[in-house]
Amino acid sequence: MTGAGGGRGESGVNVVSGVGGVTSVSGDSGAAGRAGKPTLAVVGATGAVGTVMLGILSERADIWGEIRLIASPRSAGRKLTVRGEEVEVVALSEEAFEGVDVAMFDVPDEVSAQWAPIAAAKGAVAVDNSGAFRMDPDVPLVVPEVNAHAARVRPRGIISNPNCTTLSMIVAMGALHAEFGLSELIVSSYQAVSGAGKEGVDTLRAQLAKVAGTELGTQPGDVRRAVGDTGPFPGPMALNVVPFAGSLKEDGWTSEELKVRNESRKILGLPELRVTATCVRVPVITTHSLTVHARFENEVTVPAAHEILASAPGVVLCDNPAEGEFPTPADVVGTDPTWVGRVRRSMDDPKALELFVCGDNLRKGAALNTAQIAEVVAAELTASRN
Ligand SMILES: NC(=O)c1ccc[n+]([C@@H]2O[C@H](COP(=O)([O-])OP(=O)(O)OC[C@H]3O[C@@H](n4cnc5c(N)ncnc54)[C@H](OP(=O)(O)O)[C@@H]3O)[C@@H](O)[C@H]2O)c1
Repeated sequence: MTGAGGGRGESGVNVVSGVGGVTSVSGDSGAAGRAGKPTLAVVGATGAVGTVMLGILSERADIWGEIRLIASPRSAGRKLTVRGEEVEVVALSEEAFEGVDVAMFDVPDEVSAQWAPIAAAKGAVAVDNSGAFRMDPDVPLVVPEVNAHAARVRPRGIISNPNCTTLSMIVAMGALHAEFGLSELIVSSYQAVSGAGKEGVDTLRAQLAKVAGTELGTQPGDVRRAVGDTGPFPGPMALNVVPFAGSLKEDGWTSEELKVRNESRKILGLPELRVTATCVRVPVITTHSLTVHARFENEVTVPAAHEILASAPGVVLCDNPAEGEFPTPADVVGTDPTWVGRVRRSMDDPKALELFVCGDNLRKGAALNTAQIAEVVAAELTASRN
C-alpha cells in the first residue's frame, strides 16, 4: 500500500493529516508574532463547517494576524476557541469587515449572496463556501491541488469553494486527468448527513436513538413510523438510504447532481465534459463516498493509475482488497486527503477506470479547501506588501 506520508492507524488504513499544505501550529503564535500578518474573518464560525474551520486554523501554520469570528446576532457574545485562545463572536455587519484582508464565508447561500460582495467592497478577498457564486464566470472556483492559478483572477474580489461532493473526488480525478485526459465521469455518491449541516447530524443521531435495540427494518414503513421527524431529509436516514440530495431541479435531476456536473467541468477547465451523477444520502455522520466510472482519451492500466494516485498531493491510495484494505467513511473521517481504493480497469472498456473515493466533507469538502484557498491569497497579499 502506498500512502502520502502517514502512519498506519488502528483502523487498518493509512492515517494522514495535513496533506496539501502546511501543517502544525507554528512557534511564533501569540499577539507579538502576528503583527503585520493578514487579518482573517470567519463568517459562520458557529456552524458545522465553521466549527471544523476553527480546528483547522488551530492546526495549520499560523499565518494569520487577528482572526475575527462572525455569525448571526443569535450567536453574538458567544466565546469560541481558535489557536488555543478564546475569541468573542461578533454579529455580521459592515463594520465587522473593517481591516479584514480575507473573509471566509461558511453561511447559507442567501447570506453569502448578500454579504460576500459587501466584504469585497470593504477591501477583503471573500472566499465563499456556499453555492451563491460558484458558477459566476467572474468568480473562480478553486481547488488548490488542481487549479490554484485560478485564484489570482477574481474580478469580483470573490473566490468560490466547490461543493463537498465534487470536492470529495476532484483532487484524485484532476491527477488522473492530467495523465490520461478525462472524457467522461459517471458517479454515484454516498453522502453523509453532515452535508446538510448541524440539523442533518442532529436528525440522524435522534433517529438512531429511536431504532437502536429494536427489531425495526423488517416491514414496509416501520422505520419511517418509528423515527417520525425526518428533519432536512425526504425520508428516514436511520437504517435507510435516500436517493435524493439537495433540491429538485429540471427533468428529475437534483441540485446536488447538477453541482457535480457543472463544478467538475469548471474546475477541470473541461466545459464539454460528459458528467452524470446520482446523489444518495446514507446514514453516515461525516465523510462522503463516491463510486466513479471515469473514461479517458487514452487507454489506462491499473498500475499506471496506482502510480499517479500514490504520488498525487492530497491523495492517499488505499487499495489492497485481498487484505481488506480500502477506504471507508468510518476510517477516513477527520483526515484531510482524498482516499482512493478499489481501482479497476473497466472490463468492457480499456479506456475506463472504476474507483471508490472517500473524503471528509467538512474538511477537504469544505473547511480545509477554504483554508487552503485563503492561504494562497494570504501568500499573494504578503508578497505584494513586501
Ligand atoms: N456541511 C457541509 O458538508 C458543507 C460542505 C461544503 C459547503 N457547505 C456550505 O457551507 C455553508 C455553511 O454550511 P453548514 O453546514 O456549516 O451550515 P450550518 O451548520 O447551518 O451553519 C450556518 C452558519 O451560518 C450562520 N448564519 C446563518 N444565518 C446567518 C445570518 N443571517 N447572518 C450571519 N450568520 C448566519 C450561522 O450562525 P448562527 O449559529 O449564529 O445561526 C452558522 O454559523 C453553506 O452554504 C453550505 O452549503 C457545507
